[in-house]
Amino acid sequence: MSRNAIATPVIRRGADPDIPLLATIEKSADERFRDWPGLEWIATAGDVFPARRLRDLVRTGLVLVADAGGCDGLVGFLAGEAREGCLHLWQIAVLSPWQGQGIGSRLLAGAGHFAISQGLATLTLTTFRSVPWNEPWYRGRGFATLAETEMPPHLRTLLREEGEGGLPVPLRCAMTLILTGADRPPSTGAHDPLAGPDVGPPASDGAHSSRADPRRPETGPV
Ligand SMILES: CC(C)(COP(=O)(O)OP(=O)(O)OC[C@H]1O[C@@H](n2cnc3c(N)ncnc32)[C@H](O)[C@@H]1OP(=O)(O)O)[C@@H](O)C(=O)NCCC(=O)NCCS
Repeated sequence: MSRNAIATPVIRRGADPDIPLLATIEKSADERFRDWPGLEWIATAGDVFPARRLRDLVRTGLVLVADAGGCDGLVGFLAGEAREGCLHLWQIAVLSPWQGQGIGSRLLAGAGHFAISQGLATLTLTTFRSVPWNEPWYRGRGFATLAETEMPPHLRTLLREEGEGGLPVPLRCAMTLILTGADRPPSTGAHDPLAGPDVGPPASDGAHSSRADPRRPETGPV
């Protein structure tokens, strides 16, 4: 099925067979940084969220995938886990040709729905300041940038660790979204996971393999 003719991807819980496909999505998504002065290295380095951690998060946290079905298969994912009463989002990525179609917003809405179902009232994350598809994109979805004094301890620790790991500290920020009433991620239409329980369960192994693009690499560097 051609990209222009497909139905809206389904947002569903990720499962082990999905994990090897996510590195390709992340590398494609990170191509956005190739033309951003000072952050080109994100595209050239090709580093991805470790597959081992993603497998853990399938069991102990949240992995959501955007599944376009057919030969297109998976086109986006989000990973997070509970930290200090919040759902901390570790990564969100949408395959480059699929960006700007509301898939990232729907993954975020799915995370909000999951958090509420788990009694977690806040989404947290760290990201790059000012890069249009990072801090401003989250702000457009209701997140607020925190001053250091406002940060829960896990965000302060994370920013410090990011600096120790070589990320440029002045360019990083921590953000939060309190999931109450109007502060929930914005509705994104009929497939909005917050509008109803439309975050599907993981595809069964058989169902997934019939949907996945057989031409995709089995795994990426992790
Ligand atoms: C951040 C990222 C996941 C967003 O994914 P996306 O699918 O492009 O996000 P959306 O389509 O929901 O939003 C992008 C824009 O498309 C617009 N859009 C187009 N069609 C839309 C639709 N049908 N529904 C909602 N928004 C739509 C939105 O208005 C939005 O514009 P805005 O930011 O000016 O409001 C994606 O840019 C990405 O993978 N980036 C690289 C990886 C990265 O930086 N991740 C974040 C790490 S902290």
